[in-house]
Amino acid sequence: MQPKITANARCVDGEVGSIAKIIVDPLSHEISHVVIRERGGQGVERQVPIDQIQAVPNEEEVLLQGSTDTFRQWPVLNRGDYVTIHEVEIAHLEDHLHVAPGEILVPYPRLEQAVPRRSFFANMTHAIGALIALPLVFPVLKYLMQPMYRPFDNTWFPVGNVRKVKKENIGYQFKYTRGFKEAFMPEQHIEKNIWVVKATPAVQQAIYGGKDRKFYDDKGNVVWVNKANATHIGFSGKCPHLGCGYKWRRTKNYPDGVFLCPCHLSIYDEAGKVLDGPAPRPLDVLPLQVNAVGDMKIIDVEYKAGVKNQIRLL
Ligand code: FES
Repeated sequence: MQPKITANARCVDGEVGSIAKIIVDPLSHEISHVVIRERGGQGVERQVPIDQIQAVPNEEEVLLQGSTDTFRQWPVLNRGDYVTIHEVEIAHLEDHLHVAPGEILVPYPRLEQAVPRRSFFANMTHAIGALIALPLVFPVLKYLMQPMYRPFDNTWFPVGNVRKVKKENIGYQFKYTRGFKEAFMPEQHIEKNIWVVKATPAVQQAIYGGKDRKFYDDKGNVVWVNKANATHIGFSGKCPHLGCGYKWRRTKNYPDGVFLCPCHLSIYDEAGKVLDGPAPRPLDVLPLQVNAVGDMKIIDVEYKAGVKNQIRLL
């Protein structure tokens, strides 16, 4: 038999009060405690574990184990530790309980307990405010994060004539200027550079392994194919380690010359292969086209620095 929510509570030596609320485990839906308002106790409510109910003679009465002194040792209910099911929705909680919803308490969520109720609701208000403001803030965020959203720029940039590359197995630097236009800002021009080598059969093999290299736009469409038997290779001027500019240098260990990055001393051969240092991948090969009179154009592809795989950023 289930007692009414107002049932009187009695110990072996006398009546102690009446049931005012029940506390329910939100997961098992089992009643864990009854809350008994103490008779003559000026509204004091004590939470008594359900297993302390010895018997339920009728709907109007429950018998508790122990004496009235034992009853007074049960903790006083701290109402702030609980919410009613008016405040949290727990599916089917009332199905088996013959009480009004407001009289059922469930423990305040553990994660929220460290946050005072007032600040919890204040935080909720701020969060809702932030959601409302999001459409206004989004364009600014998008502008600040533009490199992540900007579609890849597949513009071809003229970089010079291939006749400057006279010898095999030596890197030749070509400089070019490109403009950048950010929203609200005047267009800016920056000087960039690439390194070009003659593609000897050994270099072609080392870079392409007999397979053409495809380049894609941000939608996955092929925008250019470097042929595996192309006559020249263009490398991005940025070191794949952390993006420093590197040079072609002769060193004691490499008297014929290597690409040497001064920042952390990564060393690459004429095919861009890492010979030494912290570089995580070979030099980045760019889309390169050479016309009938030897004029070269490249797409200024940029990849994320410091990672093994090429992740295109621009
Ligand atoms: S940036 Fe080139 S080695 Fe670190």
